[in-house]
Amino acid sequence: MKTKNFQKYLLPYEIGRGAEGIVYKISDKYVAKVPRICYPDSKKNLRKEFEIAKVLFENGVSVPEPEGIFKIRNLGLTSVIIPSEAFIMEYIKGKTGSEFFRDYSSFRMVNPNFIESPSFAGYNEEYNHIKKLYEEEIKKAKEIGFLPFDAEFNGNYIWSAERSKLYLIDFGMWEWET
Ligand SMILES: Nc1ncnc2c1ncn2[C@@H]1O[C@H](COP(=O)(O)OP(=O)(O)O)[C@@H](O)[C@H]1O
Ligand SMILES: [Mg+2]
Repeated sequence: MKTKNFQKYLLPYEIGRGAEGIVYKISDKYVAKVPRICYPDSKKNLRKEFEIAKVLFENGVSVPEPEGIFKIRNLGLTSVIIPSEAFIMEYIKGKTGSEFFRDYSSFRMVNPNFIESPSFAGYNEEYNHIKKLYEEEIKKAKEIGFLPFDAEFNGNYIWSAERSKLYLIDFGMWEWET
């Protein structure tokens, strides 16, 4: 396993969290995902998530490039119970599915006649485009033999408008087809 020194990134900051993990930006290029709660399986799950990400990446599914599992000494974090390992992956600048839907909902609230509004058409177009990309990546993952835990258009992706590219994230609950 590669042993890059991530210790030098002393000031990580939180950029997201979900049910299982907290994700910290640790440099221009990388984020570190650490388990939110140190339950007995958390280390194993993190490794499993990394392995899945690696297979997906190597088979051409669009995911943030996985770097590996690295030991970290408390990165200066106080909100987690001294995680000892982190899943390091490429940082993707963009909008997550949940952010997309949050913005969409506020847009609807401030625009009561949103259906007639020209920007709604824009939103709709963007929505359909992103959804199509999402479904394509999920389809590829299934073809490789994965059972995506929740293959709904549910927010576990990042849309990079800059790169015009959608990245699947969060494989903690995924399984292999048996
Ligand atoms: N590679 C990444 N680049 C940028 N942000 C990320 C990356 N991975 C995760 N995030 C952010 O962290 C949040 C939580 O990550 P996720 O893997 O979904 O954790 P959980 O397993 O707890 O749901 C995401 O919704 C997103 O905002
Ligand atoms: Mg998630």
